[in-house]
Amino acid sequence: MTAIRSKRNLLSIKQLSNEQIYHLIHLAEKLKDPVNRPSFSGQFAANLFLEPSTRTKTSFHIAEKRLGFDVVELDGIDSSLTKGESLYDTLKTLESLGVGLAVVRQSEVDGLSTCTEGVDIPLINAGDGCGEHPTQSLLDLYTIYEHFQSFKGLHVCIAGDLKHSRVARSNAYALRQLGATVSFVSKPEWQDPTMAQNYITMDEAVETCDVLMLLRIQHERHTGHEETGSYLEQYGLTVEREARMMKHSIILHPAPVNRGVEIDESLVECEKSKIFRQMTNGVTMRMAIIHALMKGEL
Ligand code: CP
Repeated sequence: MTAIRSKRNLLSIKQLSNEQIYHLIHLAEKLKDPVNRPSFSGQFAANLFLEPSTRTKTSFHIAEKRLGFDVVELDGIDSSLTKGESLYDTLKTLESLGVGLAVVRQSEVDGLSTCTEGVDIPLINAGDGCGEHPTQSLLDLYTIYEHFQSFKGLHVCIAGDLKHSRVARSNAYALRQLGATVSFVSKPEWQDPTMAQNYITMDEAVETCDVLMLLRIQHERHTGHEETGSYLEQYGLTVEREARMMKHSIILHPAPVNRGVEIDESLVECEKSKIFRQMTNGVTMRMAIIHALMKGEL
């Protein structure tokens, strides 16, 4: 008899319906209270990060510990990937050792999808190169919902290095699906026609958007070094522009932030900024994602 493969993975935001996204937001809200958290005590979670990370890696670690998992951390330096072992064999090995959930960041776009056929444990995409970052998107959605209690009719402007941004790709898709209007600000060479057609200027964005989502310039994914001297004035959020934003509007950034490049240094922690709130919400949302996957709800 052929074994039925588990499809309990989160590889792309595109696999989630609006109902599933709202379910995760409400679940994250519920899991803020420790008395509502299930315990996965006795189970192991593995975090395999083959690209650098501070927020995603640490917040998954904390989320897993809060849910009672024992946590195994692997990277691309100390694991046998350096000896040429494939990602599939690495994940198959973790599964064979008794790991019950794996979180993976790696550089190949959609690289995890080649592993789902033979690996039965839930897999979570923690960022795949310039592809997608579904868990960042979900924590961003949670942060927006926390402030506005809705997505319908919101104008969200995503500004920056779109071409190399997995965060922008996941968020543009999810926000449109949820009924928001999404516009974009970007240097011509960083525009991405597969993601966006409707580009506006930063001056137009600050006066009309409810959510301004800034992106980091991803120097590590560029072939040459980008000169950023005039970037803030041309494309970034200056103090003068922030003063023209609507009273209720908010500023998001997935971080790490290049202070003084995409946003003025003094605005990173301003009243409108939810940048550190996003990080706090990241732990809660990742608890919700893990809980939902382990319970077969996604
Ligand atoms: N936002 C984000 O993915 O940050 P890290 O690269 O530090 O995980």
